[in-house]
Amino acid sequence: MYIIALSNEKGGVAKTTTAVSLGASFAETGMKVLLVDLDPQANMTLALGMEPSKIKLSSAAVFLENTPIASIIQHTSFPNVDIVPSKEEMATSERFLPMRPEYECTLRNSLSAQPLDYDIVLMDCPPSLGVITLNAYIASNLLVIPTQAEYFSVYALRNLMTWIRRVRAQYNPGLKYRLLLTMFDRRNRTHRVLSEQLRTNFEDGMLSTIIEIDTKLRETAIAGVPILVHAPKSRASFQYRALAQEISEYVKETAVQ
Ligand SMILES: Nc1ncnc2c1ncn2[C@@H]1O[C@H](COP(=O)(O)OP(=O)(O)OP(=O)(O)O)[C@@H](O)[C@H]1O
Ligand SMILES: [Mg+2]
Repeated sequence: MYIIALSNEKGGVAKTTTAVSLGASFAETGMKVLLVDLDPQANMTLALGMEPSKIKLSSAAVFLENTPIASIIQHTSFPNVDIVPSKEEMATSERFLPMRPEYECTLRNSLSAQPLDYDIVLMDCPPSLGVITLNAYIASNLLVIPTQAEYFSVYALRNLMTWIRRVRAQYNPGLKYRLLLTMFDRRNRTHRVLSEQLRTNFEDGMLSTIIEIDTKLRETAIAGVPILVHAPKSRASFQYRALAQEISEYVKETAVQ
Protein backbone atom coordinates (compact mmCIF):
# COMPACT_ATOMS: atom_id res chain seq x y z
CA MET A 1 0.00 0.00 0.00
CA TYR A 2 1.52 3.27 -1.14
CA ILE A 3 0.48 6.46 0.67
CA ILE A 4 0.40 9.88 -1.00
CA ALA A 5 -0.56 13.20 0.62
CA LEU A 6 -1.73 16.17 -1.46
CA SER A 7 -0.57 19.23 0.39
CA ASN A 8 0.23 22.89 0.07
CA GLU A 9 -0.16 25.61 2.67
CA LYS A 10 -1.44 27.82 -0.13
CA GLY A 11 -5.20 27.60 -0.68
CA GLY A 12 -6.94 26.96 -3.98
CA VAL A 13 -4.03 25.35 -5.84
CA ALA A 14 -5.99 22.20 -6.86
CA LYS A 15 -5.10 19.84 -3.98
CA THR A 16 -8.62 18.45 -3.76
CA THR A 17 -9.18 18.41 -7.53
CA THR A 18 -5.92 16.50 -7.95
CA ALA A 19 -6.67 14.01 -5.17
CA VAL A 20 -10.07 13.13 -6.68
CA SER A 21 -8.98 13.11 -10.34
CA LEU A 22 -5.79 11.20 -9.68
CA GLY A 23 -7.67 8.71 -7.51
CA ALA A 24 -10.17 8.08 -10.29
CA SER A 25 -7.32 7.71 -12.82
CA PHE A 26 -5.55 5.07 -10.72
CA ALA A 27 -8.88 3.28 -10.21
CA GLU A 28 -9.51 3.23 -13.96
CA THR A 29 -6.37 1.13 -14.37
CA GLY A 30 -7.75 -1.42 -11.91
CA MET A 31 -6.00 -0.26 -8.74
CA LYS A 32 -7.90 -0.17 -5.48
CA VAL A 33 -7.91 3.41 -4.19
CA LEU A 34 -8.68 4.88 -0.78
CA LEU A 35 -9.28 8.64 -0.58
CA VAL A 36 -8.89 10.24 2.85
CA ASP A 37 -10.40 13.68 3.40
CA LEU A 38 -8.45 15.50 6.13
CA ASP A 39 -9.86 18.97 5.49
CA PRO A 40 -12.63 20.42 7.71
CA GLN A 41 -13.93 22.15 4.55
CA ALA A 42 -14.79 18.59 3.35
CA ASN A 43 -14.42 19.57 -0.31
CA MET A 44 -13.31 16.09 -1.33
CA THR A 45 -16.31 14.54 0.42
CA LEU A 46 -18.61 17.01 -1.38
CA ALA A 47 -16.87 16.43 -4.72
CA LEU A 48 -17.84 12.76 -4.47
CA GLY A 49 -21.49 13.62 -3.97
CA MET A 50 -21.67 13.09 -0.21
CA GLU A 51 -23.30 15.47 2.26
CA PRO A 52 -20.89 16.10 5.19
CA SER A 53 -23.65 16.98 7.69
CA LYS A 54 -25.24 13.54 7.14
CA ILE A 55 -22.02 11.67 7.89
CA LYS A 56 -21.81 9.99 11.30
CA LEU A 57 -18.22 8.79 11.37
CA SER A 58 -15.65 11.03 9.73
CA SER A 59 -11.86 11.23 9.60
CA ALA A 60 -12.01 13.33 12.78
CA ALA A 61 -12.81 10.13 14.73
CA VAL A 62 -9.29 8.88 13.98
CA PHE A 63 -7.84 11.89 15.80
CA LEU A 64 -10.46 12.43 18.51
CA GLU A 65 -11.30 8.81 19.44
CA ASN A 66 -8.56 6.65 17.95
CA THR A 67 -11.17 4.96 15.75
CA PRO A 68 -9.52 2.50 13.33
CA ILE A 69 -9.63 3.92 9.82
CA ALA A 70 -11.11 0.68 8.46
CA SER A 71 -14.41 1.33 10.27
CA ILE A 72 -14.85 4.80 8.71
CA ILE A 73 -14.45 3.77 5.07
CA GLN A 74 -17.40 4.22 2.71
CA HIS A 75 -17.85 3.17 -0.92
CA THR A 76 -18.28 5.84 -3.59
CA SER A 77 -20.24 5.48 -6.84
CA PHE A 78 -16.93 5.24 -8.70
CA PRO A 79 -15.67 1.63 -8.99
CA ASN A 80 -12.51 0.84 -6.99
CA VAL A 81 -12.68 4.16 -5.10
CA ASP A 82 -13.52 4.26 -1.38
CA ILE A 83 -13.43 7.29 0.90
CA VAL A 84 -12.86 8.27 4.50
CA PRO A 85 -15.09 11.36 4.52
CA SER A 86 -14.63 14.54 6.50
CA LYS A 87 -16.87 17.12 8.12
CA GLU A 88 -16.39 20.33 10.03
CA GLU A 89 -15.67 18.58 13.36
CA MET A 90 -12.23 17.99 11.88
CA ALA A 91 -11.46 21.54 12.99
CA THR A 92 -11.92 20.36 16.62
CA SER A 93 -9.26 17.68 16.21
CA GLU A 94 -6.80 20.30 14.99
CA ARG A 95 -7.31 21.99 18.38
CA PHE A 96 -7.41 19.02 20.76
CA LEU A 97 -4.99 16.60 19.14
CA PRO A 98 -1.81 18.15 20.59
CA MET A 99 -2.97 17.22 24.10
CA ARG A 100 -2.58 13.51 23.35
CA PRO A 101 0.67 11.59 23.73
CA GLU A 102 2.49 10.86 20.45
CA TYR A 103 -0.19 12.80 18.60
CA GLU A 104 2.07 13.30 15.59
CA CYS A 105 1.85 9.61 14.67
CA THR A 106 -1.90 9.10 15.19
CA LEU A 107 -2.70 8.78 11.49
CA ARG A 108 0.28 6.57 10.71
CA ASN A 109 -0.71 4.22 13.56
CA SER A 110 -4.33 4.19 12.45
CA LEU A 111 -3.39 3.27 8.85
CA SER A 112 -1.19 0.41 10.00
CA ALA A 113 -3.43 -0.83 12.84
CA GLN A 114 -5.27 -3.26 10.53
CA PRO A 115 -4.29 -4.52 7.09
CA LEU A 116 -6.14 -2.41 4.50
CA ASP A 117 -6.84 -3.85 1.06
CA TYR A 118 -5.78 -0.88 -1.11
CA ASP A 119 -3.02 -0.31 -3.64
CA ILE A 120 -2.93 3.40 -3.09
CA VAL A 121 -4.10 5.90 -0.46
CA LEU A 122 -4.55 9.58 -1.41
CA MET A 123 -4.94 12.04 1.46
CA ASP A 124 -6.31 15.54 0.89
CA CYS A 125 -4.75 17.98 3.38
CA PRO A 126 -6.16 21.32 4.55
CA PRO A 127 -4.42 24.50 3.28
CA SER A 128 -2.39 24.96 6.46
CA LEU A 129 0.66 23.53 8.14
CA GLY A 130 -1.01 22.36 11.34
CA VAL A 131 -1.04 19.13 13.32
CA ILE A 132 -3.32 17.31 10.85
CA THR A 133 -0.97 18.09 7.96
CA LEU A 134 1.96 17.01 10.14
CA ASN A 135 0.19 13.69 10.74
CA ALA A 136 -0.28 13.26 6.99
CA TYR A 137 3.41 13.93 6.24
CA ILE A 138 4.49 11.40 8.85
CA ALA A 139 2.12 8.75 7.46
CA SER A 140 3.11 9.25 3.78
CA ASN A 141 5.56 7.74 1.33
CA LEU A 142 5.20 10.68 -1.06
CA LEU A 143 3.95 14.26 -0.92
CA VAL A 144 2.49 15.64 -4.10
CA ILE A 145 2.53 19.42 -3.88
CA PRO A 146 0.21 21.07 -6.38
CA THR A 147 1.39 24.58 -7.18
CA GLN A 148 0.45 27.34 -9.57
CA ALA A 149 3.03 29.23 -11.57
CA GLU A 150 2.24 32.40 -9.61
CA TYR A 151 4.66 34.38 -7.48
CA PHE A 152 2.87 33.83 -4.14
CA SER A 153 2.56 30.11 -4.79
CA VAL A 154 6.25 29.79 -5.48
CA TYR A 155 7.02 31.82 -2.35
CA ALA A 156 4.86 29.54 -0.18
CA LEU A 157 7.05 26.58 -1.16
CA ARG A 158 9.91 27.81 1.06
CA ASN A 159 7.98 27.14 4.24
CA LEU A 160 6.94 23.78 2.94
CA MET A 161 10.50 22.69 2.23
CA THR A 162 11.50 23.58 5.81
CA TRP A 163 8.66 21.42 7.04
CA ILE A 164 9.67 18.48 4.88
CA ARG A 165 13.23 18.67 6.22
CA ARG A 166 11.94 18.70 9.81
CA VAL A 167 9.63 15.74 9.28
CA ARG A 168 12.43 13.76 7.59
CA ALA A 169 14.83 14.50 10.44
CA GLN A 170 12.43 13.65 13.26
CA TYR A 171 9.86 11.15 12.06
CA ASN A 172 9.88 9.95 8.48
CA PRO A 173 13.33 9.81 6.85
CA GLY A 174 11.96 8.14 3.69
CA LEU A 175 9.49 10.95 2.88
CA LYS A 176 9.71 11.98 -0.80
CA TYR A 177 8.10 14.94 -2.50
CA ARG A 178 7.22 16.01 -6.02
CA LEU A 179 5.84 19.36 -7.20
CA LEU A 180 2.95 19.37 -9.64
CA LEU A 181 2.24 22.40 -11.78
CA THR A 182 -1.52 23.01 -11.89
CA MET A 183 -3.91 25.45 -13.60
CA PHE A 184 -1.19 26.21 -16.11
CA ASP A 185 -1.94 28.62 -18.95
CA ARG A 186 0.50 28.21 -21.85
CA ARG A 187 -0.42 31.63 -23.26
CA ASN A 188 0.47 33.39 -20.02
CA ARG A 189 4.03 34.71 -20.08
CA THR A 190 4.41 34.83 -16.28
CA HIS A 191 3.34 31.19 -16.10
CA ARG A 192 5.97 30.22 -18.63
CA VAL A 193 8.74 32.18 -16.88
CA LEU A 194 7.90 30.95 -13.37
CA SER A 195 7.52 27.34 -14.49
CA GLU A 196 11.00 27.50 -16.02
CA GLN A 197 12.38 28.91 -12.77
CA LEU A 198 10.70 26.14 -10.80
CA ARG A 199 12.22 23.52 -13.07
CA THR A 200 15.67 25.05 -12.64
CA ASN A 201 15.32 25.18 -8.84
CA PHE A 202 13.69 21.83 -8.23
CA GLU A 203 14.94 19.78 -11.21
CA ASP A 204 13.85 16.18 -10.57
CA GLY A 205 11.65 17.39 -7.73
CA MET A 206 9.04 18.34 -10.32
CA LEU A 207 6.67 15.99 -12.06
CA SER A 208 6.91 16.31 -15.82
CA THR A 209 3.14 16.08 -16.29
CA ILE A 210 1.50 19.51 -16.14
CA ILE A 211 -2.21 20.14 -15.47
CA GLU A 212 -3.49 22.99 -17.61
CA ILE A 213 -6.51 25.19 -17.02
CA ASP A 214 -9.69 23.36 -17.94
CA THR A 215 -13.04 24.89 -17.00
CA LYS A 216 -14.59 21.40 -17.08
CA LEU A 217 -12.86 20.80 -13.74
CA ARG A 218 -14.96 23.51 -12.12
CA GLU A 219 -18.16 21.83 -13.26
CA THR A 220 -17.22 18.40 -11.93
CA ALA A 221 -17.21 19.41 -8.27
CA ILE A 222 -20.81 20.58 -8.69
CA ALA A 223 -21.72 17.37 -10.51
CA GLY A 224 -20.39 15.36 -7.53
CA VAL A 225 -18.40 12.94 -9.71
CA PRO A 226 -14.75 12.84 -10.83
CA ILE A 227 -13.80 14.53 -14.12
CA LEU A 228 -13.18 11.07 -15.60
CA VAL A 229 -16.94 10.43 -15.35
CA HIS A 230 -18.17 13.94 -16.06
CA ALA A 231 -15.94 14.60 -19.08
CA PRO A 232 -13.85 11.49 -19.81
CA LYS A 233 -12.42 12.94 -23.03
CA SER A 234 -11.56 16.38 -21.65
CA ARG A 235 -8.00 17.65 -21.61
CA ALA A 236 -7.91 17.48 -17.80
CA SER A 237 -8.98 13.81 -17.85
CA PHE A 238 -6.12 12.93 -20.19
CA GLN A 239 -3.63 14.95 -18.17
CA TYR A 240 -4.66 13.31 -14.89
CA ARG A 241 -4.41 9.86 -16.53
CA ALA A 242 -0.88 10.78 -17.64
CA LEU A 243 -0.11 11.92 -14.11
CA ALA A 244 -1.29 8.59 -12.67
CA GLN A 245 0.95 6.81 -15.18
CA GLU A 246 3.97 8.95 -14.25
CA ILE A 247 3.45 8.45 -10.51
CA SER A 248 2.93 4.66 -10.98
CA GLU A 249 6.28 4.45 -12.75
CA TYR A 250 7.93 6.51 -10.03
CA VAL A 251 6.48 4.22 -7.33
CA LYS A 252 7.79 1.12 -9.15
CA GLU A 253 11.26 2.66 -9.54
CA THR A 254 11.54 3.67 -5.88
CA ALA A 255 10.30 0.24 -4.75
CA VAL A 256 13.18 -1.48 -6.60
CA GLN A 257 15.88 0.60 -4.87
N1 LIG B 1 -6.82 22.74 -13.95
C1 LIG B 1 -7.82 23.52 -13.52
N2 LIG B 1 -8.43 24.37 -14.38
C2 LIG B 1 -9.43 25.17 -13.96
N3 LIG B 1 -9.92 25.19 -12.72
C3 LIG B 1 -9.36 24.36 -11.80
C4 LIG B 1 -8.29 23.49 -12.16
N4 LIG B 1 -7.93 22.79 -11.06
C5 LIG B 1 -8.74 23.20 -10.07
N5 LIG B 1 -9.61 24.14 -10.50
C6 LIG B 1 -10.62 24.87 -9.72
O1 LIG B 1 -9.94 25.73 -8.81
C7 LIG B 1 -10.62 25.80 -7.56
C8 LIG B 1 -9.70 25.36 -6.43
O2 LIG B 1 -9.39 23.98 -6.59
P1 LIG B 1 -9.32 22.99 -5.35
O3 LIG B 1 -10.52 23.13 -4.49
O4 LIG B 1 -9.00 21.64 -5.87
O5 LIG B 1 -8.04 23.60 -4.61
P2 LIG B 1 -7.51 23.27 -3.13
O6 LIG B 1 -6.04 23.47 -3.18
O7 LIG B 1 -8.00 21.95 -2.69
O8 LIG B 1 -8.21 24.40 -2.28
P3 LIG B 1 -8.21 24.53 -0.68
O9 LIG B 1 -6.88 25.06 -0.32
O10 LIG B 1 -9.34 25.46 -0.36
O11 LIG B 1 -8.43 23.15 -0.12
C9 LIG B 1 -11.85 24.92 -7.71
O12 LIG B 1 -12.94 25.71 -8.06
C10 LIG B 1 -11.49 23.97 -8.84
O13 LIG B 1 -12.63 23.51 -9.55
MG1 LIG C 1 -9.01 21.44 -0.95
